[in-house]
Amino acid sequence: METIELNINGRKRTVHCLANATLVEVLREQFQLTGTHVGCDTSQCGACTVHVNGDAVKACTLLAARLNDATITTIEGLAQNEASHPMQKAFNECHGLQCGFCTPGMIMSAVDLVSKGGADSPAAIREGLSGNICRCTGYQNIVAAVVQGAAEMQEQSS
Ligand code: FES
Ligand code: FES
Repeated sequence: METIELNINGRKRTVHCLANATLVEVLREQFQLTGTHVGCDTSQCGACTVHVNGDAVKACTLLAARLNDATITTIEGLAQNEASHPMQKAFNECHGLQCGFCTPGMIMSAVDLVSKGGADSPAAIREGLSGNICRCTGYQNIVAAVVQGAAEMQEQSS
């Protein structure tokens, strides 16, 4: 058994886990952060995307024991002061989801993409989100949502 310290959604947490436990297992099973989904378990679908030290990563293939002292943000930690993040709001308003299974991962990837300046056109957004698969094939509205969310994020930061 390994023991590590993590900051998860702004709270310091001590984690006891097996050496081969993945981050998504720890988030879902120890902390009930079930907004982070598991679609493939093989780093293909992006449903498990969270932020680790500010970068979007696929939590199904990261060993939690390697992340001592990391800062983790999940979809549950994106809202601030009970107000939805602009990207969450945009997905809602643009109907950027159908069944919703891919949505948390899409939003976490989109926020990272926008933060790093990679969402300046619909084509760039499609490329930037190519690691996230939507089985409902709702890409048109997802791209529209990211365009709107990016504009609102930029407005908030200016
Ligand atoms: S569950 Fe991690 S990429 Fe699919
Ligand atoms: S909304 Fe169903 S998988 Fe994307």
